Amino acid sequence: IRKAQTLILFGATGDLSRRMLLPSLCALDADDLLPPDLEIIGTARSELSDGEFRDFAREAIEQFLPADRVGGMAEFLNRLRYTQLDVTTPEGYAELAEKVGDDRDIAIFLSTAPSLFKPTIEGLASHGLADAHSRICLEKPLGTDLESSCAINDAVAAAFSEERIFRIDHYLGKETVQNLIALRFANILFEPLWNAQHIDHVQITVGETVGLESRVDFYDGAGALRDMVQNHMLQLLALVAMEPPSSFDAGAVRDEKVKVLRALRKLKSDESVTGQYRGGASNGEIVPGYDEELGKDSDTETFVALKAHIDNWRWQGVPFYLRTGKRLPERVTEIIVNFRCVPHSIFPDARLKPNRLVIGIQPEENITLSLMAKVPGIEHEGMTLREVPLDIRMPDAFTGKHKRIAYERLLLDLINGDQTLFVRRDEVEAQWKWIDAIRAGWEAEGKTPKTYNAGSWGPSAAIALAERDGVSWHE
Ligand code: BG6
Repeated sequence: IRKAQTLILFGATGDLSRRMLLPSLCALDADDLLPPDLEIIGTARSELSDGEFRDFAREAIEQFLPADRVGGMAEFLNRLRYTQLDVTTPEGYAELAEKVGDDRDIAIFLSTAPSLFKPTIEGLASHGLADAHSRICLEKPLGTDLESSCAINDAVAAAFSEERIFRIDHYLGKETVQNLIALRFANILFEPLWNAQHIDHVQITVGETVGLESRVDFYDGAGALRDMVQNHMLQLLALVAMEPPSSFDAGAVRDEKVKVLRALRKLKSDESVTGQYRGGASNGEIVPGYDEELGKDSDTETFVALKAHIDNWRWQGVPFYLRTGKRLPERVTEIIVNFRCVPHSIFPDARLKPNRLVIGIQPEENITLSLMAKVPGIEHEGMTLREVPLDIRMPDAFTGKHKRIAYERLLLDLINGDQTLFVRRDEVEAQWKWIDAIRAGWEAEGKTPKTYNAGSWGPSAAIALAERDGVSWHE
């Protein structure tokens, strides 16, 4: 695929465009990373002139991009044009096609409701905008279960081959998530230990302090399992657990990830806990409960904790504990690889702690390996041992590098035509298959979420899920 010369944003006046896409594109431009001739055409239902769309973009950039990253805003704004388009009627597409012009390589970004994907793709196809010169990028949610996800994938596949479909999971655009691949496959140290013989269990936590925000309709129809686990957390799990790919290219990496996703064992009923927050003090403020924010009773889970297993040789008997939720005490995303204890301790008086690798994804990007070390001194007979961290703080290790928005990397890869950090159809479908089975289990047993206080780490049953195996969640 060649570099795109035109980027078309559907949903250009929406929230994602305002908070992420336009600021990211501006930041890429400031760093001279966009092709010099790239044009960006925004489309949405509202009637706007090019000038009004540029004003909208300017405000978004001022609000969401740090001032020192903005660069020459005027030059960036000059790339922008706008076409009013109702995706369900044919009219707007002709004008769009005319604006694009002939023989351009196009990248199309859909950040609209998935129910609009099908009519949009049909509209594009009937106006020559879905040919071999164009690629398409889809933003989540890609369905609400396997069936609806397949329907979306089929609709897209009717006009675009898989090599031209870019499914976003914005977690793959995060630096430390990519660093996980570097850590595992650019160092000899970890691979010999990266298996059931040496790893006791893995934890993945994605904690958020926010509540429903303003996404009432969407979130209540989704819940934590579908909103966070189906995509982001399973992608993290796949990167931790996959076999070494033969190269860092889209085919090889995604082949390995999908094998892991297909090897996920069906959960037993006591291997999942769901929760819903109730009001209380959270991070120094009194916040309403989920029901109150929503304005009605609901059985949607805002928290989920799971104990997952991967049925292959490498991971036999190694649980992967996953938990995520809204209104938790901290905004934190981290992966913790807990190694096994040494087989025999020569320090009878010391309590040896197993080594632990903590990969911090946000808010801090850091990698910490905890090791046992001797406490300096000669006061005690023998040795006193204590756990100490071997710490890499990414911003200190690589000074002068600014923190990027995850979408910068993904938009650039879309424009350049590199699919490595995008999700392939078979991955999405394997993810849904596992998630659907969990939801079917909940339905069959009539499981409803347990309440937890806003500002706590979820219902006590989530703590028990790990503790009954002798494991405590990392804090
Ligand atoms: C989105 C979810 O995909 O990811 C949101 O829909 C969630 O509910 C967000 O808040 C979290 O992303 P990040 O990058 O802030 O961890």
